[in-house]
Amino acid sequence: MTARHFLTLLDLSPGELESVIARAIAMKADPQGAGRGTIAPNRVMGMIFEKSSTRTRVSFEAGMTQLGGHALFLSPRDTQLGRGEPVEDTARVLSSMVDIVMIRTFAHAMVQRFAACSRVPVINGLTDDFHPCQLLADVQTFVEHRGSIRGKQVAWIGDGNNMCQSYINAARQFDFELRIACPGGYEPREDLVRANAGRVTIVRDPLDASRGAHLLATDVWASMGQEAEQEKRAAAFANYQLDHRLLDVAAPDAIYLHCLPAHRGEEISAELMDAPDTVIWDEAENRLHAQKALIEFLLTA
Ligand code: CP
Ligand code: NVA
Repeated sequence: MTARHFLTLLDLSPGELESVIARAIAMKADPQGAGRGTIAPNRVMGMIFEKSSTRTRVSFEAGMTQLGGHALFLSPRDTQLGRGEPVEDTARVLSSMVDIVMIRTFAHAMVQRFAACSRVPVINGLTDDFHPCQLLADVQTFVEHRGSIRGKQVAWIGDGNNMCQSYINAARQFDFELRIACPGGYEPREDLVRANAGRVTIVRDPLDASRGAHLLATDVWASMGQEAEQEKRAAAFANYQLDHRLLDVAAPDAIYLHCLPAHRGEEISAELMDAPDTVIWDEAENRLHAQKALIEFLLTA
């Protein structure tokens, strides 16, 4: 049987995604039980990081250890991948030695090429196009605090980036409505928007996206790899800060999320970031639980 991969949220069915979220919630509620040490004994995860990370690295590494296995951190600086060894050759060799692979890289095509030659499951830990693991944590956080996200109104404020594009996939898989507020020229991929017309709309005014929303989400204005555009982007996104102005027009029990790292005073106000009742820290923690549930799913699928 060929391995199941998790390159985007579309790789799992809506029912499978729901069960991963439910399992993540169960694992969180029973940290010493629920498969601790027994799901992946002696299994090894290879983690390829071509971009920086705090949460993704620590949550996968800690998660594998908690499931009874081990994770290897592989950076292009110390591997032959960084010296030009083809992705396909690397995939064949690595997948003959480890049980599961996680990749954070630039081009989404790289994880697709790797997965095509891998005998073991491949997880996308962020590409320029998608960040599906973060969406598992985001949906888990919403479910924990507000119940099912089905039929809810979600507002995306800011760049039409990898996170925004994963929200588009999430709208489809978890069945919610998504209003994206972004400046002209910073829209998500047109094919994704078109494929989800009916549940995904693009507006210019962040107030229009936020009105009545049950969830507001944002992310940095300049993603990894876009550092040179920082200044230009800061000007384009000046009116796109997730702050009280937006929360005030949202649904009365709205929550807001940020995948982190955050820039207070840019895409999110310091007031919202540091609010005592923010669920952003739960969202970050949920990376651990959601990915443990995902690893279990992929290793047993
Ligand atoms: N949210 C997220 O993926 O964080 P890291 O870049 O720290 O992994
Ligand atoms: N859009 C951001 C997400 C970081 C977790 C980036 O790609 O840098």
